[in-house]
Amino acid sequence: MLRNLMLRIADSPALVGFLSRQGMKTGFARRFVAGESLQEAIPVVEGLNSKGIKCSLDLLGEGVEDEETARTATQSYVNLLHVIQERGVDCNISIKLTQLGLDIGRQVAARNLKKILDAARECGNFVRIDMEGSDYTADTVELFVEHLEIYGPATVGIVIQSYLRRSEEDVRRLASLGCNIRLCKGAYKEPPELAFPKKSQVDDNFVKLMEIMLASPCYSAIATHDEKMINRAQELIERDGVDSSRYEFQMLYGTRSEYQEEIKNQGYRMRVYVPFGTQWAPYFIRRLAERPANVLFVLRNLFKK
Ligand code: FDA
Repeated sequence: MLRNLMLRIADSPALVGFLSRQGMKTGFARRFVAGESLQEAIPVVEGLNSKGIKCSLDLLGEGVEDEETARTATQSYVNLLHVIQERGVDCNISIKLTQLGLDIGRQVAARNLKKILDAARECGNFVRIDMEGSDYTADTVELFVEHLEIYGPATVGIVIQSYLRRSEEDVRRLASLGCNIRLCKGAYKEPPELAFPKKSQVDDNFVKLMEIMLASPCYSAIATHDEKMINRAQELIERDGVDSSRYEFQMLYGTRSEYQEEIKNQGYRMRVYVPFGTQWAPYFIRRLAERPANVLFVLRNLFKK
C-alpha cells in the first residue's frame, strides 16, 4: 500500500516540487543522494573507494522531453567519464535512456547513447543502462543488444528486473550473449499482467534468474540489500565454484552501508550506486516507496525543521 501511495506521489508535480525544495535545504535527500553537483559526488566516491568499495555514478534525470535537455545530459555524461579518468576513481556510470531522449524517439536516444559509449571506450570505462518502467523495457533491451554488438560487454551492460514476467526470457537470451547484467527486483509501479504482484514471487524469480545468470557465460551484478538473496547467491557461487571475476554485489548509496562493508570485507567485490544531481526527487521517492522506515526518516527531518 505504502509502495503504491509513494509511487503515485511521484506522479504529482506539486508534491515532487515540495520535496525538491525541502530535500537539500533540510538535508534529508542527502541520505540517498550524494549531492546536487559532481563536486559533491566525487568525494563520496573517493570515500567509498578508500574502503575498497567500487562505485557507479548516476547523474539523476529521466523522462526528458526535449532534444536540447537530452543533449546536455549526454554531454554531462561524456564529461563525467573524463572526470572519472582524471581523478583516477574506481567508478563506472549508470544512465537512463529516457534521460537521453527515448520519449522523443528511439533514434535520439541511440545517437546520444553512442556518444556516451564512444567516450566510455576512449576512457576505458563501462556504462550500465538502467532499466526503467515497463513502457521502456522492449526498447531498452533492443537498443542494448544493438550497441552490445558494436561496443562489447566490457563497455556496455544492462539491468533486468525480477518483478517482470518477461524477465526470464530476457535473461536467457542476454545471458547466452555473455554480457554484463545487473539483476534487481524492480522499482516502478507495474500492472499484475506484466509484473508479479507478490513479494514472494518477485523474490523467487530473483533466485531463479540469478541461478540462470551464474550458470551462464554472463557477468552477474547482483543488486539487492536483501540478505536472503545475497546468502543464496553466495551459496550458489560456493557450490558451483563460480570464478570471482564473473560477478559482483551492488547496493544503493545510503542503504545498509555497514552491510556493504561487511560483504566487501568477506572478500566479495562490492559496488555502490551513487546518484547525484538536481533532478533527484523521482529517484528519492522510489527509495521511500521501498521501506516505511525511509518515509519516517523524511517526516522526522521535516518535523525537526
Ligand atoms: P527489498 O526492498 O525487497 O528488501 C528486502 C529485504 O532487504 C528487507 O526485507 C530487509 O530485510 C532488507 N533491507 C532492505 N533495505 C534495508 C535497509 N535500509 N536496512 C535494513 N534492511 C534492509 N530498480 C530498477 O527498477 N531499475 C534499475 O535500473 C535499478 N538499479 C538498481 C541498482 C542497484 C545497485 C540497486 C541496489 C538497486 C537498483 N534498483 C533498480 C532498485 C531495485 O529494483 C529495488 O527497488 C531496491 O534495490 C530494493 O529492493 P531490494 O532488493 O533491496 O529488496
